[in-house]
Amino acid sequence: MEKNIMLNENTYWVGKVDDRDVPFHRLTLTKGTTYNSYLLNTEKPTVIDTVDISFGREFVQNLSNIIALDEIKYIVINHTEPDHSGALGSLAAKAKNAVIVCTEPAVNELKEMYRLHSREFLVVSDGDTLDIGGKILKFMQTPYLHTEETMITYCEDDKILFPCDIFSTHIANYEYFNDLAKEDIKEDFTVYYKLIMHPHRRYVQEMIEKIKDLDIKIIAPSHGFIIRYDVQSFIDIYDNMSKSTDQSKKALVLYSTMTGNTKKIATILKEKFEEQNITSEIMDVNKVPMEEIISAINEADTIFFGSSTRYGDMIGNMEEVLKNLKTLNLESKLGATFGSYGWSGEAIEVIQDYLNESNLKVLNTSDIIKSTGMTDIELPLRIRFSLKEDSLKSIDRLVTYTSDLLLSAI
Ligand code: FEO
Repeated sequence: MEKNIMLNENTYWVGKVDDRDVPFHRLTLTKGTTYNSYLLNTEKPTVIDTVDISFGREFVQNLSNIIALDEIKYIVINHTEPDHSGALGSLAAKAKNAVIVCTEPAVNELKEMYRLHSREFLVVSDGDTLDIGGKILKFMQTPYLHTEETMITYCEDDKILFPCDIFSTHIANYEYFNDLAKEDIKEDFTVYYKLIMHPHRRYVQEMIEKIKDLDIKIIAPSHGFIIRYDVQSFIDIYDNMSKSTDQSKKALVLYSTMTGNTKKIATILKEKFEEQNITSEIMDVNKVPMEEIISAINEADTIFFGSSTRYGDMIGNMEEVLKNLKTLNLESKLGATFGSYGWSGEAIEVIQDYLNESNLKVLNTSDIIKSTGMTDIELPLRIRFSLKEDSLKSIDRLVTYTSDLLLSAI
């Protein structure tokens, strides 16, 4: 059983130190990790996040030594991945009066993962507060840090930020606080940032904006050290590393359109790249001379190719452009396919075949899932008829991902 660690007079660390080699996102954490859970023992006792499922029973037993579990009023789940929500099923079974607090996208995930369909949930939105009897908690949504449903929790009275994965380190340790660490943790802290957060750097900036006016005395993350010394310097690491500083990257969007829908997608792609500080250019391949198109391809860092489909094939000069790809050295460039279609959208697939035969690094859904865990970007980008709201979101996510790849040399 872990000993209980106090952050202040009624805030307990009730987590688990895992000093094994821990498998994690196709890596092995040779320094182990910790799963940090916290108990705020107020008039309405509240648990913030839990531990990995393999330690669920031990976690609940440990907690029961501090508090009668049926007195727990709230269980806050900032992030649904099982290294933090893993003990929710065991805890909820004993903490029968507890309301589970999470974001809207998290509710169904938690219900399905832990069979909690009949439990009471409190769904919180960005900026909502909750009085837990003596303390006020404020919730801020931090989508894609690093999954869609994530949020962070700030205790206004104690000035403690509970950001779950954000500001974490993977180091098993029994010192718990960064001022007691045996070595400087900033290298491990930075490695963690690069692996987990940097692929979502735009969202890191949004998070920084949300917390910038908070008075944060302690950061209590859900892996590794609790940061209570030199707090701002750790926030600054995230801020500095997630800023876009390189505006020299170029995106080129080539299209051939029949009714204007594919042109509309191309235009939005261009605008979204510009929002990401990427210089972008759009070309109708039927109106620009081939030499100019080839020259633009050679200068670009990423090239998107799009065509409408007519009679099962692409239209206009797009195929002529694609035939040239084999003669070019595109090794360091990213490529992607898009298009609007009405029935089957064969042109999009034929373009993709051409890209796969070139030496472009062709963006695809499988690689995105494997490298980031993001499941909501579909490539090739296929839009049936005209753009809808969900397609715009999808384009935004795709461009953010591509821009992050272009700008991620750190
Ligand atoms: Fe530590 Fe995203 O789980």
